[in-house]
Amino acid sequence: MTIETKNRKVLEFGSYQQACEYVADTIANLIRNRHQEGRGCVLGLATGATPAGVYKCLVKKHREGQTFAHVTSFNLDEYWPMNMINPQSFNTYMRSHFFDEVDMKIQNTYLLPGMEPLENIQQICSAYEDAIETSGGIDTQLLGIGRNGHIAFNEPGTSFQSRTELVDLHEQTRKDAAATFGGLENVPRQGITMGIATIMQARKIILMANGKAKSSVLYQALHGPVTEELPASVLQLHPDVTVVMDKECAAGFLK
Ligand code: GLP
Repeated sequence: MTIETKNRKVLEFGSYQQACEYVADTIANLIRNRHQEGRGCVLGLATGATPAGVYKCLVKKHREGQTFAHVTSFNLDEYWPMNMINPQSFNTYMRSHFFDEVDMKIQNTYLLPGMEPLENIQQICSAYEDAIETSGGIDTQLLGIGRNGHIAFNEPGTSFQSRTELVDLHEQTRKDAAATFGGLENVPRQGITMGIATIMQARKIILMANGKAKSSVLYQALHGPVTEELPASVLQLHPDVTVVMDKECAAGFLK
C-alpha cells in the first residue's frame, strides 16, 4: 500500500525483507543515476537493527556486480566515549555490515569519532559539517526512529536548528541499548550526532520503521504536531521523505 502526498510517500511492505530490498534498490538507482550524470553520490547512513537488512541487500548487490567505488558516506552518530574497535561502536557496525564487504574507498566513509577528548569535539563537529558541504551535500539520508521519536541521537527537546554536536542520551535510548552493552551501566551517557538541521539538508530522506514497537511513535511523527518534543516530527517539513515500513509497523500505525 502506498500513500502519497506532496512531499511524502508512505510505503507499506509485506515483510521486513521486502522493505529492505526496496530501500537497497532505491540506493542502487541513485548510484546509477548519479553515475550517468558523471558524478558520485553521497549517502547519509544509519545504524541500528532497522537498516541492517538494507546493508545485507547492498552487499548482495555488490557480489552481483554493483560498485560503490564512487560513493561517499556520512554516518549519523556515534556513542561518546567509545573506542571505535569496540563491538558496540557504530564504526564497528558499519565496517562489519557494509564497508568491509563492498568496494567503498575508506577515505570516503565519514564517521564521527568516539574517542576524541572533549576539548576537540567542537572542532571535529564543525569539520564534519564542512566535509558534508564540500562533498556537495547528502543526496539520500537513511534514517531510523527511536522509540521516543529521536532521529540519530537527537533526543526530545533538541532544537530543530541543531548542528553536529555532543549530546546527552535519553534514559529510554540507553535502556533500549542496554542488552547490546550487557547492562544499562555499560551504555555511554553521551553521543556525537549529526544535528537536526544537518539531517534536514539532505535532498531526500528515507525513514525506515520496523515492527509494532515503532507504530505509535511513527504515527505521531507523521500525523501529530511538529514539535521539538518529538524530533522525527520535523520530517513533516522536509520536501522529499519516503517512509518505509513493514506490515507489523503499519498494522498499529493505521489504527
Ligand atoms: C539508535 C540510533 C538511531 C536509530 C535508533 C533506532 O539510538 N542512534 O540512529 O535510529 O537507535 O534503532 P533500531 O533500528 O535498532 O530500533
